[in-house]
Amino acid sequence: MFVYSDPDVYELELERVFPHTWLFLAHASELSGPGSFVVRDMGEQSVIVGRGDDDVVRVFLNSCRHRGMKLACEDFGQVDMWRCQYHGFTYGSKGDFMGTLLGAPFERQAYPQGLDRKALSLIEARVETYQGLIFATWDKKIAPLSDFLGDVRWYLDLLFGRAEMEVVGVPQKWVVPSGWKLPADNFTSDAYHTATAHSFMARLNLTKGVDFGRDGYHVAPDNGHGLGIGTHSDDESYFPPELQEEYRSRLSEEQYELLSHLKNLHGNVFPHMSFLQPNFIDIDGKKVSGLMLRVWQPIGPDKLQVWSWHLIEKNGPDWWKKAAKAAYVQTFGSSGMFDQDDTENWEAQTRNSNTALARDEEIMLHYGMGLGMEPLTEFPGPGHVFDGKFSEAAGRKYWRTWLDLVLKEPEK
Ligand SMILES: [Fe+2]
Repeated sequence: MFVYSDPDVYELELERVFPHTWLFLAHASELSGPGSFVVRDMGEQSVIVGRGDDDVVRVFLNSCRHRGMKLACEDFGQVDMWRCQYHGFTYGSKGDFMGTLLGAPFERQAYPQGLDRKALSLIEARVETYQGLIFATWDKKIAPLSDFLGDVRWYLDLLFGRAEMEVVGVPQKWVVPSGWKLPADNFTSDAYHTATAHSFMARLNLTKGVDFGRDGYHVAPDNGHGLGIGTHSDDESYFPPELQEEYRSRLSEEQYELLSHLKNLHGNVFPHMSFLQPNFIDIDGKKVSGLMLRVWQPIGPDKLQVWSWHLIEKNGPDWWKKAAKAAYVQTFGSSGMFDQDDTENWEAQTRNSNTALARDEEIMLHYGMGLGMEPLTEFPGPGHVFDGKFSEAAGRKYWRTWLDLVLKEPEK
């Protein structure tokens, strides 16, 4: 239990987990054109995610090569160059010189011997994208993003590839006194808690009963990812009729069929990118659900910053865009009723894990749900898929993936 928030374990994670896996940083729609950038974190390191003239997205350590000051102190922007506010070292933000030192104030007097511009380029990370999701890693040797995502790609398509998607506004951010793995664990394989923690849904008549987290499928792909798919058996899709053509053109027949019966979908890409198509709720006689993307950004062993994005179909009808945003704000996000339920649980778990007793006695917890269950053989999507959402199979794989990284001594 102590691994939820132990300071020594956290130091190992900063050294062994975050630098050696792919990390989600941004959605492509957040970068509007050449010179546009957002500032994000990889582990505890600030990075700049920028788009060049060539449309390529590059990621640089947000640290001037002169004295290590942050280059971009804002959250986002669009600039012709990045200029350090400390001494004025200036770097290209687009074009051939993106990330290269362009110059420094009084350069001829201050550095008569000249500055080696190439050697003083910004430190650059490896970047790859999938369905508009931009990932980066510092590790030059790990497998490509497509291998890392593997079977979870098929399911990410349902949320981020079904249509041209765009981020609405800027991500909301807030701090929660919780270890960063607790919400990741929750999104990976915990549909079970919804019937208890979120039972207000039924009490407010937003759903019929509390079994919305039960019916559907639990999916345990490899590499520590995990998800749960809630389905309905109604004839009509809950998604807008106006978007069906676009969905059909971008998804396989099997994916389209599953989307047509989707009523919710939660999951997590290892280590800390969560996604959720929340359970559809009735607003003004229409079924609505506001797509959400999350990062559980660690800012200490027992504290995290939530990053929460709302995405919508760019070509969707206005009523859907408005209603989905209203649903997102009402259910999730900093004002969301679900988040209030969840946060209290994660906070109290963190407090319980962070005691001498929890450490000394190595208190064990129960992760056995679904042990011995056989995966389905007929399901159209890949990965180990189980009938019904009550399983912790993906959670067990999440912790195994995490443990393998934590125990692996980095190569010198
Ligand atoms: Fe929850």
